[in-house]
Amino acid sequence: MVMMKHSFFSLSLLLIILFHSTTTSSQTPAPSPSSSPTDIIRILKKAGGFTTLIRLLTTTQVSTQINAQLLNSNNGITLFAPNDNAFSSLKPGFLNSLSDQQKDELIQFHVLPTFVTITNFDTLSNPVRTQAGDDPERLALNITSSGSQVNLTTGVVNTTVGGSVYSDHQLAIYQVDKVLLPRDFFVPKPPPPPAPAPLKGKDSKKKSEDGAVSPAGDNSDAMSLKKHMHGIWVFVGVVAVFSL
Ligand SMILES: *[C@@H]1O[C@H](CO)[C@@H](O)[C@H](O)[C@H]1NC(C)=O
Ligand SMILES: *[C@@H]1O[C@H](CO)[C@@H](O)[C@H](O)[C@H]1NC(C)=O
Ligand SMILES: *[C@@H]1O[C@H](CO)[C@@H](O)[C@H](O)[C@H]1NC(C)=O
Repeated sequence: MVMMKHSFFSLSLLLIILFHSTTTSSQTPAPSPSSSPTDIIRILKKAGGFTTLIRLLTTTQVSTQINAQLLNSNNGITLFAPNDNAFSSLKPGFLNSLSDQQKDELIQFHVLPTFVTITNFDTLSNPVRTQAGDDPERLALNITSSGSQVNLTTGVVNTTVGGSVYSDHQLAIYQVDKVLLPRDFFVPKPPPPPAPAPLKGKDSKKKSEDGAVSPAGDNSDAMSLKKHMHGIWVFVGVVAVFSL
């Protein structure tokens, strides 16, 4: 009888321990599937200090897009989140000088279409593809890392990852001390493609275009003559030097 009581006691003790360990371990993993979908704005609001970023994410609707991507894709998202200090150290009026399209590009430039843990940045190859696009001249984002030190450069701005704001299996948010400005905002745009000929006055337009062909040809002839002459002068110079 005493024996039975004893074993009953140890069994319930074992059960209590088991139950306790399963409940505590189930607290560590991220949100259970039954929880509501991830809302990046809610996460940033909770973290605090991201007022301007939240405003830009909302006005550009990139937040809606990110929430949808998290729901519909398995690749996850990484967001570099400049805090309010980062935005206030921009040149005064800079943000207001951007068009809606540039604001969209700026915010997409802070988003990677994959979930990257802090120690996995060294697996990416430079330039890293952001959601702003992959033009290596204008939209390059280079990331170099060693352990948890992560350096970012856009060619215009250098900064480092200041810490992790949030991470689950899908979404990683890292705080950065500077706004990542793409080179695209600072290098001159390539000349736009020639405008289509207006419908009215098509014939006169054509005439003037035909007329323009011959001077252009003359020009290139003149150019090659110039080059030719230049060559002759260099030759004359070399001969002169040698005959000294
Ligand atoms: C990051 O940049 C700092 C200087 O800004 C440098 O000392 C460090 O070596 C860099 N780290 C990596 C991993 O590139
Ligand atoms: C980024 O990395 C690529 C490849 O290493 C390099 O060619 C490019 O110059 C780098 N750009 C910047 C802005 O550091
Ligand atoms: C960024 O870092 C690179 C190399 O570390 C340096 O050459 C460049 O001048 C820096 N650019 C800015 C804007 O600080």
